[in-house]
Amino acid sequence: MLPDDIAPPDAIAYLNGELVPLKDARVSVLDRGFIFGDGVYEVIPVYNRIPHRLAGHLARLRGSLAAIGIQNPHDDAQWEALFRQTIARNPHEDQALYLQVTRGIAKRDHAFPAGATPTVFVMCNKLVTPSEQAIAEGVKAMTFPDNRWLRCDIKSTSLLPNILLRQAAVAQGCAEAVMLRDGLLTEGAASNIFVVKNGVLLTPPKSHLILPGITYDVVLDLAGRAGLPVELRAVSEAEVHAADEIWLTSSTREVLAITTLDNKPVGSGKPGPVFRSMHALFQQDKRSGAHR
Ligand code: PDD
Repeated sequence: MLPDDIAPPDAIAYLNGELVPLKDARVSVLDRGFIFGDGVYEVIPVYNRIPHRLAGHLARLRGSLAAIGIQNPHDDAQWEALFRQTIARNPHEDQALYLQVTRGIAKRDHAFPAGATPTVFVMCNKLVTPSEQAIAEGVKAMTFPDNRWLRCDIKSTSLLPNILLRQAAVAQGCAEAVMLRDGLLTEGAASNIFVVKNGVLLTPPKSHLILPGITYDVVLDLAGRAGLPVELRAVSEAEVHAADEIWLTSSTREVLAITTLDNKPVGSGKPGPVFRSMHALFQQDKRSGAHR
């Protein structure tokens, strides 16, 4: 039996067409997700039971599935319907919807199996956003060389490098690992990274070196609407270390200031003014019910 803190008794998951208690959901050991990490995933924030920026998440899911050659098992309307059902069966108003599609069950062999049916799994956890203290004071982060593969644009469940980097950061009392490749900023272990210098918001453009974050899109949208100057360009390690502000963004952490990097204060060492206005805009946007 799974303990309640891993699978709460009232948590209901969707697995291959059925709604089942999360604690009873079972996948074969021969599932290629288990054997190879051969699958893709999404994490969609759900506010007041409405998936936020759903169209963006579904578009990214389509891209990830196409990139690894799994046929999308559902069209957007079917995904939306099954999300709605699963969200409705779970207790929290704000949820983190986790969705995974693997290549399915097959005899172990690296090459794609013929005729395997993709495994589809959805669970809805309570959405835990950053604490008041983390918002008010910011968090610590460390830089690490980005040692991942070159298709970081695919939201793959094969996350070993991200896990090892996040763990190395956590072992040093940090909330995130900020990755650098060839002297340039890429992203966080599970977030995108923005830098503010002299009032300008800087972040690397989308490429195969970073995940195209949905929260990244939200922040760029909000910055555009607020008239905040933005530059999408390569950001050097030196610029990261000389930043006035550094932020991380993700579906669960929203927008969060990094106020200590590599044991040194970022700017004033407190969340900066640009962060505070973006955080306020983000909180309004997420409750607006817009961008479904
Ligand atoms: N991770 N980059 C990486 C490597 C990520 O894993 C994530 C999100 C992001 C931000 O993407 P988005 O804004 O769409 O959440 C960027 C999720 C939250 C996770 O793995 O839990």
